[in-house]
Amino acid sequence: MNHIKIFSPATVSNVACGFDVLGFPIDSIGDEMVVSKTPNKSLTISEISGYDIPTDINKNVATIAAMELIKFLKPTCGFDLKIHKNIIPGSGIGSSGSSAAAAVYAINKLLGSPLSKKELIRFAMKGEVASSISEHADNVAPAMMGGLVMVKSVSPLNIIKLPTPSELFCFVLHPKIEVKTSQSREILPEKVSLKDTTLQVSSFGSLVHALHTEDYDLMGESIKDYLIEEHRKKFIPLFDNVKEVCLGLGSLGCSISGSGPSVFALTRGVEKAKEINASISQLYKKSGVDFSTYVSKISGTGVRVLS
Ligand code: HSE
Repeated sequence: MNHIKIFSPATVSNVACGFDVLGFPIDSIGDEMVVSKTPNKSLTISEISGYDIPTDINKNVATIAAMELIKFLKPTCGFDLKIHKNIIPGSGIGSSGSSAAAAVYAINKLLGSPLSKKELIRFAMKGEVASSISEHADNVAPAMMGGLVMVKSVSPLNIIKLPTPSELFCFVLHPKIEVKTSQSREILPEKVSLKDTTLQVSSFGSLVHALHTEDYDLMGESIKDYLIEEHRKKFIPLFDNVKEVCLGLGSLGCSISGSGPSVFALTRGVEKAKEINASISQLYKKSGVDFSTYVSKISGTGVRVLS
C-alpha cells in the first residue's frame, strides 16, 4: 500500500462535567486526508483545500504529530499529505485534533500498523500541544478511538473507552466566530470552590454510571458543568437562550463544546436532536452570526480508512 485516504471526525470535548477528560466524535463532519509514501525521507504537504491552515510542516498540527511518530518508528521512506479541511480552526469541535489523528493513523497504516490506535494517541497529542499550548487529549483520543472516551491522565497517558449507549445522539451548533483554545483557557480561574468541585465530581461519576447502565434520566441529571461554562459563555452569542431552548425541548444536557464557540446538546434518539436542530436554527438567525449545525450519532469508530 503506497497511499491511503482517511476520514477523521470532529469531536465534542469536556462534555460539560468532564473538563479535559471526556470527549466523543461527531461523525457527520470531519477532515479528509490522503497520505502517500515518498521515496526519500521527507515530510511534505502538497495540497490544502477547504479551510486555510499552515503549509509549513513545523506549524501544521498534522505534520507536527507526524514528525513525532516518524521519529519513533524511523521508517525508510518519507510521506506527503494532501489535507482537505472541513473543520474550521477555532471552532471548538476538535479541528486540530482531527488532523493530528488523521496524519498519525495514516502513516501507521502505511507502515503496516505497528502501533495500536491507543498507542498513536500520544503522538497525535503533540500536534494538539502545538496548537493550544496545553496538554489535553480529550479531542484526539475520541477522534482516534470513537465512542465516549475518558482521558484518565495525560502523563502517563491513560485512556479509558466508556460505553456509548445506542440511542445517544448529539446536536451541535457552530457559530462561525473564532475562539482560540489558548485564549479560552487563559480566562479560566486558577482556583475553584470546594462546593462547585463536589458538584462536578458527583456529576462526572454519575454520568459514567449512567453510561454503563444506559440510564438516560441519570444522564440528564449529570451532563452539567459547574466549573468552566460560566467563564467561557461570554464568547458565545445567545448562549443562555440556546441552552434554555435545548433543555426546554428535552435534551439530556447542553453546554459548550470544547473551548467554544460551538455548543452541543445530547439527546435520547435522533428525532429529538432533529427537533432541537430546527428550533435552534430558527433562533440563531437572531444572533447575526453565520452558523452551521450538525446532528450525529455518537460514532463508535473514530478515524478510519476511506479508500
Ligand atoms: N478540554 C479542552 C478545553 C478542549 O476545554 O480547553 C479544547 O478543545
